[in-house]
Amino acid sequence: MKIDILTLFPDMFKGVFDESIIKRAIFEKRVEINIINFRDFTKDPHNKVDDTPYGGGAGMVLMPQPIFDCVKSLKTPFSKVILLTPDGISYKQDIAYNLCKEKHLILICGHYEGFDERIRSLCDMELSIGDYVLTGGEIPAMVIVDSVVRLLPGVINEESSNNDSFNNNLLDYPTYTKPRVYEGMKVPEVLLSGDHKKIAEYRMQESIKKTKLRRPDLLEK
Ligand code: ADE
Repeated sequence: MKIDILTLFPDMFKGVFDESIIKRAIFEKRVEINIINFRDFTKDPHNKVDDTPYGGGAGMVLMPQPIFDCVKSLKTPFSKVILLTPDGISYKQDIAYNLCKEKHLILICGHYEGFDERIRSLCDMELSIGDYVLTGGEIPAMVIVDSVVRLLPGVINEESSNNDSFNNNLLDYPTYTKPRVYEGMKVPEVLLSGDHKKIAEYRMQESIKKTKLRRPDLLEK
């Protein structure tokens, strides 16, 4: 998979993709991630990428030209263009599963007060990572890349992602490691029994119990 991220703040991505699982996925060529500063595409003599809103109002608005030209230079028939915006559809694990099947994602990070409405016409999808407003789409883009890349074949053990929270609309079951007793808290006996059928039943029950308690909305689905 190839992911192009369009941003005015490429340095924000330093470090995030340079550690742990995403770093390894890049090294093993399971994903190629390019951070592109769309200011490089402006035709303005002063390198401007934004201007004041028509009709008045606070703040600056991203102009269409640099983003249009940048997307046009990258887009192929296999590309999915995604705009990060608080008024997009709510990002969920099932969207991550759909995106991990794509060949090429182009993620557009807005910034400042907003972007010219015509930029939406470039996009196949608009995503929000939650009902709150961030200073820009960079952190949402990192969230999407992280959640999609871990689902690519070979990036993490498939058994771990099969047991993820939100699969089958259930939260993950509790897990334990050594020692058997820590500060008086014991690992449940069944997990030490070696009986895999019983362990699977226990985990399913715990998943359902936790989901009922914390996210009854998921069970209704
Ligand atoms: N840009 C600013 N806030 C955002 C959010 N919550 N989701 C996606 N993009 C955003």
